[in-house]
Amino acid sequence: MRRALITGITGQDGSYLTELLLDKGYQVHGIVRRTSTLGRSRLDHLYHDTTIYGQRLFLHYAELDDPTTFRRVLIKVAPDEIYHLAGQSHVGLSFEIPESTCDMTAMGTLRLLEMIRDLKPMPRFFHASSSEIFGTPTIVPQDEQTPCAPINPYGCAKAFATHMVGVYRRTFDLFACNGIMFNHESPRRGENFVTRKICRAAASIKLGLQNDLFLGDTTAQRDWGHARDYVRAMWLMLQQEKPEDFVLATGQLHSVQDVVEQAFATVGLDWRQYLKKDSRFLRPIEPQRLVGNASKAKCVLNWTHEVTFAELITEMTERELSFLAKNPRSEAQAA
Ligand code: GDD
Repeated sequence: MRRALITGITGQDGSYLTELLLDKGYQVHGIVRRTSTLGRSRLDHLYHDTTIYGQRLFLHYAELDDPTTFRRVLIKVAPDEIYHLAGQSHVGLSFEIPESTCDMTAMGTLRLLEMIRDLKPMPRFFHASSSEIFGTPTIVPQDEQTPCAPINPYGCAKAFATHMVGVYRRTFDLFACNGIMFNHESPRRGENFVTRKICRAAASIKLGLQNDLFLGDTTAQRDWGHARDYVRAMWLMLQQEKPEDFVLATGQLHSVQDVVEQAFATVGLDWRQYLKKDSRFLRPIEPQRLVGNASKAKCVLNWTHEVTFAELITEMTERELSFLAKNPRSEAQAA
């Protein structure tokens, strides 16, 4: 049975990847921070399944800023594949906490690479890189050759980690890959990301639980896909003969305004009555025209996204609606 280790297993991507790997017959090990609450998490359904948890799914407490503990887990698990998804992933927040963002996302990745270098045999390594490394790109759409030009602390940290993965691949012969992922969403997305915030608000307003939706820049555009499609590509990347970097994207740009219109149309409401601008959600600087060219992934991995933008936002809004209808007083949690 192949063994996979996932950092960031309790996140959106970690939970979908866990399901995918369990389906493929892997034994899955996840790293969780001591502060993580497993109750009501995205892994709840697996955690409470006694045929899975403790049999084929195992969780270990460790932190990337505590390399000794982390190394101990690595030695014990001896994974064939490592999927490194952990890190502070909110761009807006990275302006408020730049040092801890860089420590977790940039230095955390380097520490992990250093630990892997000492393992024999070295496991295959996937790093969740981001379109934010491109910032204000001169090339549209962006591909694997597009130069890094990050414009926020999060993008800088990801650019550092992405380059380090390349360094370790070339220098130490590590099977290490960067998945340069454009925005990917789902009903399991964190509530402080814009798609989930909008879909939840549309459902909540429909049910009379909320009056308004406050947003920052609604003209901002992104290349939005479904997270389930993206974790499939992560696995494919580690099954190839040679390690390479791949852009994972849909190739289609949509604005925040498009998300609003799709979500409110799903619940049959006129968004004009509810949308309010709020400068608290504006960022000091916005990346420009981040849209990916995933032709290499299509050609080498035979990967392409399956879920369209409209299907994604409709699914997210419908899930919020059915969840909130059953749990009107619920706190933020995965729908
Ligand atoms: N979060 C948020 N909240 N964003 C808002 C809001 C708001 O109220 N109003 C407008 N926006 C705009 C942001 O300014 C940004 O331009 C866009 O909506 C998307 O914001 P997020 O959903 O927070 O995502 P992101 O693009 O900054 O970053 C995500 O995608 C990256 C690329 O895959 C994150 O998942 C990153 O971790 C990831 O690397």
